[in-house]
Amino acid sequence: MIIEFLRQEHRNIEKLLRVLERELSLFGRAERPDYEVIRAVIAYFEVYPDVYHHPQEDLVFRKLKARDPTAAAGVGDLAAEHRSGAERLRRVAQAVQDVLTDQEIPRQTVDGIVRDFIAHERHHMAMEERVFFPAAITALQPQDWVEIASTLTDQKDPLFSAVVEERFDAVRKHILQLEQEAEAERV
Ligand SMILES: [Fe+2]
Ligand SMILES: [Fe+2]
Repeated sequence: MIIEFLRQEHRNIEKLLRVLERELSLFGRAERPDYEVIRAVIAYFEVYPDVYHHPQEDLVFRKLKARDPTAAAGVGDLAAEHRSGAERLRRVAQAVQDVLTDQEIPRQTVDGIVRDFIAHERHHMAMEERVFFPAAITALQPQDWVEIASTLTDQKDPLFSAVVEERFDAVRKHILQLEQEAEAERV
């Protein structure tokens, strides 16, 4: 079911946030984090949510608004939250870029910017799991889910496809592998 799939994506996102957090903790201890790993995580977040995860959630949210506007209001402005997540990510990418090009940027500033991104992503996902998904499960009718599923797999413009999913899966595995190698080198 679609909600179960979205929850699984959240777990995948959480894994990558943890990678970012681990690298950041090295940075905080004045050690050198693995920038290849950090940049891979950033690149993933630059593509994946916008082309994949958010459009799926937006579809569900549109149905929720139609079925139960009050419950939708309780979720808040989902699109705005997604936009602000993208904005926070841009700040992360810029901060890391500044570090790598030897711009004078205080360690604490970078630390703050990355932590801000991680905290908001977690907060957003927690809200969706606590408020949004249960509201959708309650309010949406079987035909809504059928419609969502058919939009997601639309032949001309699919928002979900097994091929794309496999590709993202491969990217995630690659990042986790890089992280393992980086960890092994540090021991
Ligand atoms: Fe979301
Ligand atoms: Fe989400």
